[in-house]
Amino acid sequence: MLRTGTYTRRGFGAILAAGLLASGLAGCGNSDTGGSGGEAGSDKIVLGFSQVGAESGWRTANTTSVKEAATEAGIELKFDDAQQKQENQIKAIRNFIQQKVDVIAFSPVVESGWDTVLKEAKDADIPVILTDRAVDSADKTLYKTFIGSDFVKEGRLSGEWLVEEKKAATGPVNIVELQGTTGSAPANDRKKGFAEAIATNPNLKVVASQSGDFTRAGGKQVMEQFLKANPKIDVLFAHNDDMGLGALEAITAAGKVPGKDITIITIDAVKDGMQALADGKFNFIAECSPLLGPQLMDLVKKVHAGESVPERVETEETTFTPEQAKAALPTRKY
Ligand code: AHR
Repeated sequence: MLRTGTYTRRGFGAILAAGLLASGLAGCGNSDTGGSGGEAGSDKIVLGFSQVGAESGWRTANTTSVKEAATEAGIELKFDDAQQKQENQIKAIRNFIQQKVDVIAFSPVVESGWDTVLKEAKDADIPVILTDRAVDSADKTLYKTFIGSDFVKEGRLSGEWLVEEKKAATGPVNIVELQGTTGSAPANDRKKGFAEAIATNPNLKVVASQSGDFTRAGGKQVMEQFLKANPKIDVLFAHNDDMGLGALEAITAAGKVPGKDITIITIDAVKDGMQALADGKFNFIAECSPLLGPQLMDLVKKVHAGESVPERVETEETTFTPEQAKAALPTRKY
């Protein structure tokens, strides 16, 4: 922790008591300190990071990126896995405040309901960085910056590809949509961007839309329901690869050929998704990069040093067709 003099001012007894308190405060999710564990007197920046969970391949790659980048940058990471529950993230953030970490970063599971805990961090003078997902707080002073993708753009790029793909259609094109976690920024924004893009062609209609919670199991289960309830499905738009991969099982079990009988569009471009695209089971992927770790650590260092940072740091991304996926797969890192 970059607070020189803290050790001598408090004295050993106080440090020991603080350490015991901190260790007793764990238990809101799965926590680990990723190494040196907050040694008093260390000059390392201490970052408390609350992760959404481990719901998808994207999330696993994101966690790896954050952990590796922290090690690389010499930042001590206190990592908490919230298991996709907002209450766990709020507890984790409160624990980080009690432990007096230098900086807090988190990827909010949903957009709403953060003002109180963010105010507590601000009152404790601990800067907060949002990573991957945004919050809908009106008070922008509650956090320093937000680094992540433009989810509306991802939805829009997916919709625009579909408009082009189906431009010759003379009748209705029935679309089913697998939404991400209800209330999350990527679910809200991808839905919005996609809807705006397909509105340009009245033949394109979303006939069913439901959350599969960004998981394979959720994608499979909801797709089974969609297939039972809708005799004619032409397109699946899944808000991430994992739900699309789960849906593949349901589609095949229903005797349909994914990528041919049903056009499949997903978001993320993790390896398994890219493989499905290269194999012709998916038709299009809009990329969402999970490799936020190095940029996050740069921001952590800057806000800790009191330097100004941009309000918004946007991730660079692209899109993939099957041919592009084949070319990219051999060097794909995640
Ligand atoms: O917030 C990013 C999204 O969360 C990814 O697209 C999805 O796979 C993950 O679960």
